[in-house]
Amino acid sequence: LRWGSIFYCCVFLCLCLLPVARNQYERMGSDVTMQCGSLDNDASVSWKVNGTDVRAQHRLEGPRLILTEVNLGHNGLYSCFQNPHGERRDTIFLHIGISPREPTVTCRSNTYPKGFYCSWHQLYATYIPTTFEVDVQHNQRSLEVQKDSVHKNRCHVRFPEVFSSFPYKVNVTAVNALGKASTMISFEESSIVKPDPPERVTATPIRLNPRRLEVSWHSPATWPDIDNFPLKYFLRYRPLIRDQWQHVELSDSTSHTITDAYAGKEYIIQVAAKDTEIGTWSDWSVAVHATPWIEDPLPITSTTEGDFPTGRL
Ligand SMILES: *[C@@H]1O[C@H](CO)[C@@H](O)[C@H](O)[C@H]1NC(C)=O
Ligand SMILES: *[C@@H]1O[C@H](CO)[C@@H](O)[C@H](O)[C@H]1NC(C)=O
Repeated sequence: LRWGSIFYCCVFLCLCLLPVARNQYERMGSDVTMQCGSLDNDASVSWKVNGTDVRAQHRLEGPRLILTEVNLGHNGLYSCFQNPHGERRDTIFLHIGISPREPTVTCRSNTYPKGFYCSWHQLYATYIPTTFEVDVQHNQRSLEVQKDSVHKNRCHVRFPEVFSSFPYKVNVTAVNALGKASTMISFEESSIVKPDPPERVTATPIRLNPRRLEVSWHSPATWPDIDNFPLKYFLRYRPLIRDQWQHVELSDSTSHTITDAYAGKEYIIQVAAKDTEIGTWSDWSVAVHATPWIEDPLPITSTTEGDFPTGRL
């Protein structure tokens, strides 16, 4: 026998002899009964929470501890000890929470015609672990649902076919120890198509043209098949000093020359994209700033030293 194995045997034995804490989940606002192991009704026990006496309002009924109208402050590790010798008989992790409500669910395809994703969130905290089950149906068939590797509350689904007229039905169920609640949404393929915004937008002045700006951009990299599923674009621009946007819609072109810019004014420019046939416009791209070409300004004549401006302070 090696010392190592003796050591591990001891640790293992010790862990086994410790009473294992069990979890008890209870609804916020309810009255909670904790039962000390399987002791009889006439057993006499004392309770501790987190190692100290229970200070919250409570009742003792034989081996039972009753807490009234529990809230998050009652969370803790409760232990009971049998009188008169004080052997520990049970350990309970009390978790106060609420049952889930119907989650909010949205689905979107930014990779048409490959697939779509759905995301969901809870409007209210439940305070205890809550998981989600997702079921996607199309034409009486259950589709494979893939969890997103980054976003916790998101999943991906491949379109089983394109140009399908059958609706997709997505059912998301929030589940925790206190209950469950589902939301079902139904939609057609064409209504959830929304590309990501165009990328790498640039705006450059054109030499000797004080009213022009050349704007160009790239289609979103996530859009998988730009040749067979072309996008159209929407450009908006305004001088920084104004609130009113000017708009231009462009089919199938990834550049545009603004010809009516105010000379010398800085402009802010954004572009959005949409499938030419279906779906909705993307969000706006990141804003770019540009100022049309201006003639080299005349050198500023310097003021004489000591000649401070007066009357402006
Ligand atoms: C017990 O300890 C936990 C963790 O530190 C704490 O959140 C909880 O409020 C404590 N419970 C009570 C009743 O003191
Ligand atoms: C959604 O899924 C849950 C859990 O599987 C199920 O109980 C519920 O009936 C489903 N709702 C609909 C509308 O199909």
